[in-house]
Amino acid sequence: MSRSLPTPTPRRRTALLAACALLMAGAGTATALSPVASAAAPAAARVDNPYAGAKGYVNPEWSAKAAAEPGGSKVADQPTGVWLDRIAAINGVNGGMGLRDHLDEALRQKGDGELVVQLVIYNLPGRDCSALASNGELGPTEIDKYKTQYIDPIAAILADSKYASLRIVTTVEIDSLPNLVTNVSGRPTATPQCDTMKANGNYIKGVGYALNKLGAVPNVYNYVDAGHHGWIGWDDNLGPSAEMFKQAATAEGSTLGKVHGFITNTANYSALKEEHFSVDDAVNGVSVRQSKWVDWNRYVDEQSFAQAFRDKLVSVGFDPGVGMLIDTSRNGWGGTARPTAPGARTSVDTYVEGGRIDRRIHVGNWCNQAGAGLGERPKAAPAPGIDAYVWMKPPGESDGASKEIPNDEGKGFDRMCDPSYTGNARNGYQMSGALPNAPLSGQWFSAQFQELLKNAHPAL
Ligand code: BGC
Repeated sequence: MSRSLPTPTPRRRTALLAACALLMAGAGTATALSPVASAAAPAAARVDNPYAGAKGYVNPEWSAKAAAEPGGSKVADQPTGVWLDRIAAINGVNGGMGLRDHLDEALRQKGDGELVVQLVIYNLPGRDCSALASNGELGPTEIDKYKTQYIDPIAAILADSKYASLRIVTTVEIDSLPNLVTNVSGRPTATPQCDTMKANGNYIKGVGYALNKLGAVPNVYNYVDAGHHGWIGWDDNLGPSAEMFKQAATAEGSTLGKVHGFITNTANYSALKEEHFSVDDAVNGVSVRQSKWVDWNRYVDEQSFAQAFRDKLVSVGFDPGVGMLIDTSRNGWGGTARPTAPGARTSVDTYVEGGRIDRRIHVGNWCNQAGAGLGERPKAAPAPGIDAYVWMKPPGESDGASKEIPNDEGKGFDRMCDPSYTGNARNGYQMSGALPNAPLSGQWFSAQFQELLKNAHPAL
């Protein structure tokens, strides 16, 4: 992290100042003292980087599926995200583990050390408004149900003192807020569903409510989803997204202080580092930003984006101590197709095409990408500003079905998961690049897991 300051860290300093201010405001009055104690305690309990010096919780259900695959035991001991993707997930779907089961198991795995549990909060009304594969159970207007039947029960469980020794990371609502910037009227990529969610405010309210409630639990660390470089890396999207996150983080009683950090690339495939070209390169005097692949983006890979976006977020008012997570579960792009040298300097296109690590057909492709591999193993504090590389998307779980499959989860059929689809405005009308025969999003997809193992980078 970019935290070169000696103690207290920026975040702690803020908390201490707040506590001092409260103390001074309440000086001499007995009644003011108890709020001081309870206001100061939560902040003091949090560490700057919850991943530092901690093990990660291994989800036994994912681990068993991974271990049952040929070669899967090499990664079955890795920590992955626990997705609370519907109300029923709180108690466990179809006899599976519920939230308390996971936290009890986490306490067991923790022993005497420190342990991070990674939860994904993922059930907004009108979920996944620019796609269909992960539409959810709540309709666009069901914000009250989201609050009372989803967030409140989760917050109540997390606040159980039994779990106070765990470091609980909550990644909040994947793929929601950036949609309100990029996929609304005025943009060629607009969808009616995203217009609806912008107009009714229920993404903003839901995220604000979740941050406020979950962030009130002293050992919870909220990380807001921040898309990925191939989504909000363009100038038109970056600043407005930061402002949108600020709006959500201050909605429904939440404050910027309830945000511990942000996560990028969740369940996506953007390469961590393009090793053979940089955004500052030019060929024959033409910037790589003009290549078809980069298409004027300001960032060509995830880590440079995450670090720069962190600075942007701080500049709009987030705590200077916010840390970034990068989901590296499926952005390895190893195997035989991985370029080992820059492309030919004939044109910016030959240069970028020949050298790029990210082998997708288009940076807007997101469903079960052919050729992808496991990325960097989960790791704490890998680079300045980055709290951790994480595997938030459990490798081997599908992004969406390649054909229509009836289900009771609200999931739709998105043709971006169909390998024969020729695309839409959001992927420049390119082929989807998806693997065939995929099951519903979230379900085990053995062929994809095998591909991820084969193309892992670093290799297994
Ligand atoms: C699905 C969720 C699932 C998650 C993790 C999402 O795409 O919609 O149901 O839990 O992926 O695999």
